[in-house]
Order: sequence, then C-alpha cells, then structure tokens
Amino acid sequence: MPDTGMTDKQQRRKDKLERQISDDLSNIRISVKRILDFQERHQGDAPSKASGIKAFARIFRWTRSRLGGPGGDIQDIKRSLKHILKNQRSAQLSMPAQQFRKMQAASKIQEISLMQLCPGINDVSVPLGCVNEATSHDNQVDMPFVLGMSRFFGARNIFEFGTCTGRTTYYFSAMNPEAKVVTLDLPVQDARAGQGTGSYFCGKPEALKIHQILEDSKSWDPASYRARMDYIFIDGDHSYEGVRNDTLKAFEMLAPGGTIVWHDFAAKSPGLVRFLTEWSRDHSLYQIRKTCLVVYRAAAN
Ligand SMILES: C[S@@+](CC[C@H](N)C(=O)[O-])C[C@H]1O[C@@H](n2cnc3c(N)ncnc32)[C@H](O)[C@@H]1O
Repeated sequence: MPDTGMTDKQQRRKDKLERQISDDLSNIRISVKRILDFQERHQGDAPSKASGIKAFARIFRWTRSRLGGPGGDIQDIKRSLKHILKNQRSAQLSMPAQQFRKMQAASKIQEISLMQLCPGINDVSVPLGCVNEATSHDNQVDMPFVLGMSRFFGARNIFEFGTCTGRTTYYFSAMNPEAKVVTLDLPVQDARAGQGTGSYFCGKPEALKIHQILEDSKSWDPASYRARMDYIFIDGDHSYEGVRNDTLKAFEMLAPGGTIVWHDFAAKSPGLVRFLTEWSRDHSLYQIRKTCLVVYRAAAN
C-alpha cells in the first residue's frame, strides 16, 4: 500500500467520500450542448488545461445550483476540482507545446467542431461521472464527447483498447443499453498493468453487457471481430508502435459506416502524434476542436 500519510480512519472517510461523489455524478446528466456553450465562451482555440478545468468547474456549479445536489454537497465538488488542479499542475508534458503545434499544423488532420461532425449531438446528455476527477488529462471534456458520440452514432458493438478501471467502459454500457461492449487491457500478471482493471463496472448490472479481454493488444488476434465493430475507442498503449498496432487492428474490426476515436492527441503523447500525423496522409482524420480527440469515419456500404 502506498504511504498516503493518512490514518486508516481518514483513508476510509476519503474512500467513502470519493464513492459518494462518483455515485452522485453518475446520476447527474448534462447535455452536450451545455458543454459546447461553455467551451465556446472560453477564449482561445487550443485544447488547454485551463479551459477544461474552468468549463467543468462551471458545469459542476451550474448543475448543482439547478439540481440542488442529490447527496454530497458543493464542498465535495470543490475538493474534486482542487484535486484536478493539483494533478494538472504537476503533469509533465513530454513534447514542447510549440513542437506539438508544428506537427499538428503539418499533418493532414483537419480540425472540425463537434457539431459539424455530429449535427444534432446537442440533444445527447451524458452523466458527469464519466469524468475522472483525478485524471491528469489535458482536457476534461474529452470523455463526455467520446460517450456522447457513441450514443449519437447509435453504436451497437463498441470496442475499447485500454480498460484501466473501466470508468469509460461502464458509461459506454450504461449510455447505450442496446450495445455490447468489448474492452481490452493487459493481463493482471503483466508488470505494466495498472491495479483494478475493470473494477469500476465489476458487480454492476452493466457488467453483463461487457466482455473483458485480458491480453497484450500486440499479441491479441482481432479476427473474430472482423468488420463487426461500429464504434472503436483507442486509448491503450500510447507509444508509436502501440498506437500503430491498435489502429491496424481497429481498421480490421471496423464495420462499414463505423467510427474510430483516438484519445490523447496532445503534446504528452509524442508517439501517438507522430503515428496519426503519418496515418493522416492516407486516411481522412479529424481532430475535434478544443479536444485531444481524433476521429475517423468509415464510409457506409
Ligand atoms: C489511458 S488508460 C485507459 C483509460 C480508459 N480507456 C478510460 O477511459 O478510463 C491506458 C490503459 O491501456 C493499457 N495498456 C497499455 N498497453 C497495453 C497493451 N499493450 N495492451 C493492452 N492494454 C494496454 C494500460 O494497462 C492502461 O490501463
């Protein structure tokens, strides 16, 4: 156990509070339109940590003021936001922002607004719980958009590279009651695997529609899913070779008219940026404005 400097009692209280916040936030839904409105009002085009945090701070506040807050209170939310700020301040970028912007500009990845890509997505609503308050992602709106798009496109067969605790996996299943969700992560005995793979959905009713694969994606054979997946989320190994492997397998699994979404097109993932920049020479890729999401849409047959 890592030394957190907390007594057992404090740790238990913290865990309980975190569970409470998580339950509260999974019950509060917010429309994609409201998230876009907040983003629109924010100055600047590049996805920035500040814009994500500010947008979400406002969303949390607005939601609380409107709904009165079922369980928990505003102090919980403030505490979560402080946690986000602390984590994000300490996040290290592994590529200078300027170099990232140069590569971005030189690539053939076209920038597009979420509304241009998904006209009508405004009406889709997403549970706030899909945002991991403890994450060090550049942008806090990515997951609501990933989930909103899965709903908007009416995904029935969803595949995720990189389960981690399974928060996004859970919301894929919860937001798309008709869908089957397959999620892949490293086997638990692999030293690179994180702790608690799939723990977020384990034991919940939504888990019945989730199929978990525990295998290194590099050795995993996608043949049984050939041309069957209509929504694929690539969020596993972010190295050049890792993303290349997952992308080739995603294209093999992609059904006509299907969608692939890559996460973390950002300075912190140089291998991923380099691979997608190359891949964009032969494939139409779109970066959703003010996010770290890149999207490919296959032609329908
Ligand atoms: C960024 S996390 C995934 C986050 C998750 N998609 C979410 O939205 O909460 C990346 C995950 O990819 C997994 N991963 C890394 N390399 C992998 C590989 N070669 N095969 C399968 N999974 C891998 C890691 O174990 C980690 O859990």
